[in-house]
Amino acid sequence: MSKSKIPDRSQDWSKVRAQFPFFKNNPGAIFFDSASTTQKPESVLRAESRFYRRECSNAGRASYANSTRTSARIESARVAVARFINGNAEDIVFTSGATESLNTVALAWGLKNLEDGDEIMVCMQDHKSAVRPWLNLQELLARFGKTINIVPFGIHKEGDYELADIRNGLSPRTRLIALVHVHHVYGMDMEVETIRDIVGGDVLISLDASQSIAHRQIDLNKLKVDFLSFSGHKMFAMNGSGVLWVSPRCRNMLTSIKPGGGYAEQNSLQALLESGTPNIPAVLSLESAIAFIEKLGMERIETRLHELTRTLYKEIKDIPGINFSPGYGLCGCPQGFGILSFCFDQASTSDLAFALDAENIMLRSGDHCQTKSLDEGGGNEPQYLRASLQIYNTEEEIKELAQVLRHLVG
Ligand SMILES: Cc1ncc(COP(=O)(O)O)c(C=O)c1O
Repeated sequence: MSKSKIPDRSQDWSKVRAQFPFFKNNPGAIFFDSASTTQKPESVLRAESRFYRRECSNAGRASYANSTRTSARIESARVAVARFINGNAEDIVFTSGATESLNTVALAWGLKNLEDGDEIMVCMQDHKSAVRPWLNLQELLARFGKTINIVPFGIHKEGDYELADIRNGLSPRTRLIALVHVHHVYGMDMEVETIRDIVGGDVLISLDASQSIAHRQIDLNKLKVDFLSFSGHKMFAMNGSGVLWVSPRCRNMLTSIKPGGGYAEQNSLQALLESGTPNIPAVLSLESAIAFIEKLGMERIETRLHELTRTLYKEIKDIPGINFSPGYGLCGCPQGFGILSFCFDQASTSDLAFALDAENIMLRSGDHCQTKSLDEGGGNEPQYLRASLQIYNTEEEIKELAQVLRHLVG
């Protein structure tokens, strides 16, 4: 049995929870919406406030010590991010979040490289931020007389990508495939390494790691992708922080999409893509969030999330009328990444979400940012409630959710 499969009993998770002021300030609140945004630990909140209270200065523009220190701290955050995903600092671009990172891939790479008739493979059941940048690029290029084709692939009922769709959709004109690492509604590991083998080395992979960055170890050497995007606010850092990692082979394939003032060295990736004053406290908060995660250990976080997902499934699976979305609830797989979505025969998800809110239980309903309209290629997915967990959640909270759900649908 690999070490990561051994349940970890040594961590006192109540001490971890105590580091999140949200729970002290909202006694009794049950927060099951961490896939949307995580709560922030004290150490991250302190990093932001320290910057504004003590260090506030712009980066890379002035020669006084405070400003050069700020520049150095940004570069130290870049090194921390690179170490965290097993990449190099020179390949890290700070953005405002995953949406900006994913749009940057589509525009900075797509505008420069795509030719008439080229194809991009996209899954329409992925998050809109992973899908729409490609639809937008298609429309932009069409205005200039270029036609690119978006080739869709699906997700099967167990929650993974339909690999046969990917095999069948590939063609000599396929230039890039857009994937997510863990799905934001179905919560599954989307088999990126297998897909790399299927598409071969020449097709670029843009990977959206928004739902895996705080749930599992990311190792760029193993993933073999070309672009990696994620948001800081889903990994305990501040809103407005995000990362785009660009593989060395793509470094010279990009064009500037928001030219302006900057502080980075000429001819660097950062000079090309990071113009304008960065969101400095948000960038610094990334380093604190990484320190927080590394102190706990990603392996331990992963094990804890597997345990919590399993507990959630066990507690709710026999509630009368429950239907699980594709993913952990249907696949019978051993590992879950903290996301479980479901609906009920006898009650609408929006009514249930309101009723749960009245009980101080926060979880997500609605369209989950999936593309719904048919002209955008979306399907008619049922509406699900999504419970998304993080390390500050407890077994007691899960039991309470199950009890309240039984009462509401009973
Ligand atoms: C898979 C996925 N990609 C992209 C995003 C967009 O992230 P942001 O709104 O932080 O840019 C989200 C947010 O929920 C997501 O779950």
